Amino acid sequence: MVALEVLQIAAGSMDNFAYLVSCSQTRKALVVDPSLAPQAVLDAARAQQLTIVGLLNTHGHPDHIAGNAEILAAGDVVHWGHPADLPDADRQLLDGTEVPVGAGCVRVLHTPGHSPGSVVLQTGAGLITGDTLFVGRCGRADLVGSDVDLLYDSLQCLKQLDEKLRVYPGHDYGVRPVSTIGDELRENPFFNAPDRASFIRLRMG
Ligand SMILES: [Fe+2]
Repeated sequence: MVALEVLQIAAGSMDNFAYLVSCSQTRKALVVDPSLAPQAVLDAARAQQLTIVGLLNTHGHPDHIAGNAEILAAGDVVHWGHPADLPDADRQLLDGTEVPVGAGCVRVLHTPGHSPGSVVLQTGAGLITGDTLFVGRCGRADLVGSDVDLLYDSLQCLKQLDEKLRVYPGHDYGVRPVSTIGDELRENPFFNAPDRASFIRLRMG
């Protein structure tokens, strides 16, 4: 399986990050969360001579899906999303789903909590974590559809993954734009809350 490349793109006034995930052999690419800057994503794809074959959303909040229409209009692009957040997507992102891109694929982890249909996308050496896990913090759990218990459970699953995996968050909220699971294990108080009750106090307090 070919290693996929991940390009992080600053995407608008709410500090979102969009991503291009591409196969170096075939130049096929997936867009993740075009957010508020779809033209910047399309420009980056053109500059790298990438053909966009899919659009994935980590969840359905407006700041992440705002640029979907421009990406879908740019070519023969399949829209993927979890049905709990994005029931009208062409294809479903469920736990364990593998989304092909050229000679590689992206694997889906369902991580509910911030929203019911939040997912984390594993690209091989990277994790695109949406609003589930940020550098130094985690997503909100006080929104309509949020569930703080489920967010705690989802973060426990992420903590089991390889420490070397690179974390590509959905917003630029941290001291650096990209980290690793190991960095978060050392530095993120939400990731390291000693038990469920402590996490809930920290997140909801
Ligand atoms: Fe969100």
